[in-house]
Amino acid sequence: IRCQSMKTDEPKAKMNILDSASNLLTNFLSGGKMGSMPQAEGAVSDLFGRPLFFALYDWFLEHGSVYKLAFGPKAFVVVSDPIVARHILRENGLSYDKGVLAEILEPIMGKGLIPADIDTWKQRRRVIAPGFHALYLEAMVKVFTDCSERTILKFERLFEGEETKGGRTIELDLEAEFSSLALDIIGLGVFNYDFGSVTKESPVIKAVYGTLFEAEHRSTFYIPYWKIPLARWLVPRQRKFQKDLKFINDCLDDLIRNAKETRQETDLEQLQKRDYLNVKDASLLRFLVDMRGADVDDRQLRDDLMTMLIAGHETTAAVLTWAVFLLAQHPSRMKKAQAEIDSVLGQGRITFESIKKLEYMRLIVVEALRLYPQPPLLIRRALKSDKLPGGHKGDNNGYAIPAGTDIFVSVYNLHRSPYFWDKPNEFEPERFLVKRGSQGIEGWAGFDPARSPGALYPNEIISDFAFMPFGGGPRKCVGDQFALMESTVALAMLLQKFDIELKGSPESVELVTGATIHTKNGLWCRLKKREDIQ
Ligand code: HEM
Repeated sequence: IRCQSMKTDEPKAKMNILDSASNLLTNFLSGGKMGSMPQAEGAVSDLFGRPLFFALYDWFLEHGSVYKLAFGPKAFVVVSDPIVARHILRENGLSYDKGVLAEILEPIMGKGLIPADIDTWKQRRRVIAPGFHALYLEAMVKVFTDCSERTILKFERLFEGEETKGGRTIELDLEAEFSSLALDIIGLGVFNYDFGSVTKESPVIKAVYGTLFEAEHRSTFYIPYWKIPLARWLVPRQRKFQKDLKFINDCLDDLIRNAKETRQETDLEQLQKRDYLNVKDASLLRFLVDMRGADVDDRQLRDDLMTMLIAGHETTAAVLTWAVFLLAQHPSRMKKAQAEIDSVLGQGRITFESIKKLEYMRLIVVEALRLYPQPPLLIRRALKSDKLPGGHKGDNNGYAIPAGTDIFVSVYNLHRSPYFWDKPNEFEPERFLVKRGSQGIEGWAGFDPARSPGALYPNEIISDFAFMPFGGGPRKCVGDQFALMESTVALAMLLQKFDIELKGSPESVELVTGATIHTKNGLWCRLKKREDIQ
């Protein structure tokens, strides 16, 4: 890794790479306009060694909260400051689009919310966001418990299985289990389709994983070779990807056709009052199809569903994985969580109301998201020239950036910033209970729960963008409450029954990243039935 401060007008090697890179090249060549912004120069090998976000953290400590990173002809501005992040995501949010990310995801998600251009996004966000209303979320808690119960039952059966022979522990890759669980939940929640992946394999599950795998590959592979004419036919993995994609698209088309054939058109207000706990289909697809005045072509609807399938699956599975990884290293915190679960739930079922009482569990989930944000980087491209505000340390007065500038907002850096967190790399769920002022940091409002009354979980408003696991501003995650409750329920149900240890050392759990942070070889754990249930 080569990393050094240098003047922005120093000559750089130019390389001819494919399509989207030409935009990046333009940005790079206009780098001089960004004045004296510190610059880190990455070697291409950085992209293949340790996860990129680790290197971005080191450079943040070295170069400050706004710096420029050049990889050959590619250049990104890396932002690790809440005041600057707030400007890009919220205050001037609609002056940025998803840039490179949209180019990568568009072949998979089409014009779904994540890669959508601003005009499509405005139309679809208005329709989709109201779908995550209170009664829907309450009905989803039942889906979360039903699906988690299936997972627990599967584990309990393993204790009786051949290999365990009635023994006291089982060993499993919990990351894989969480992935199946999250897939089942998102399928039911978004389009009322039961993948049943906790208990079986099927062609559609394989196709979903194939597509997710490709989405992941594309987010880490910076040269979009799949755009070369004929690549989709000549490169075997691209051929497979096209086949998987067609399989899922056909499946989604069927679900959409079905939903449209049974459409019951209703006003938004009525739709949000339906008896979601007792209807046969509480899914978001049902909501989107039934909403009066929200007619949309099937292609757009399919893009929306595919986007939510991908956005809501790996992310939640990753939160559960890292929460367990952290808890397993802190047995006293695991015990504290179990004591809370025992006192709130006993051996009973979790409900929407009981989530409100599981405060410590909720803090564990958000602390896992602080240390392992999913995704660790948000990607933006400036649609017009802009002036970024100065960073928190007063180490710059703000930089002018030209239109077309590509930006990484490093959520990982923000969440582990020594300027905003005590012991930033340590797992301390209790930290969110401590009220803090702005410590004299000009332009930053500190931590104040009063800014987000009624919020069950700490968020970017309470922390004034020092903690922003779901982004912020107009393009903030629409599924944040869904995901937080899902993670709380699944984790609480697991800890209600089992003690968990890592099978190997924490160091042996290697990290890799694509869209999310996951392990290289799984999160192998040892589960023991709890004997101390109160
Ligand atoms: C956007 C994180 C779960 C649907 C986002 C963004 C983040 C995020 C950081 C903002 C991206 C950006 O600004 O570039 C997460 C995490 C999750 C999660 C950490 C789980 C713990 C979900 C779920 C759904 C979902 C369950 C749907 C059911 C979306 C959609 C967007 C989005 C549609 C795009 C919003 C827009 O541009 O208007 N998510 N998400 N996410 N997320 Fe999530």
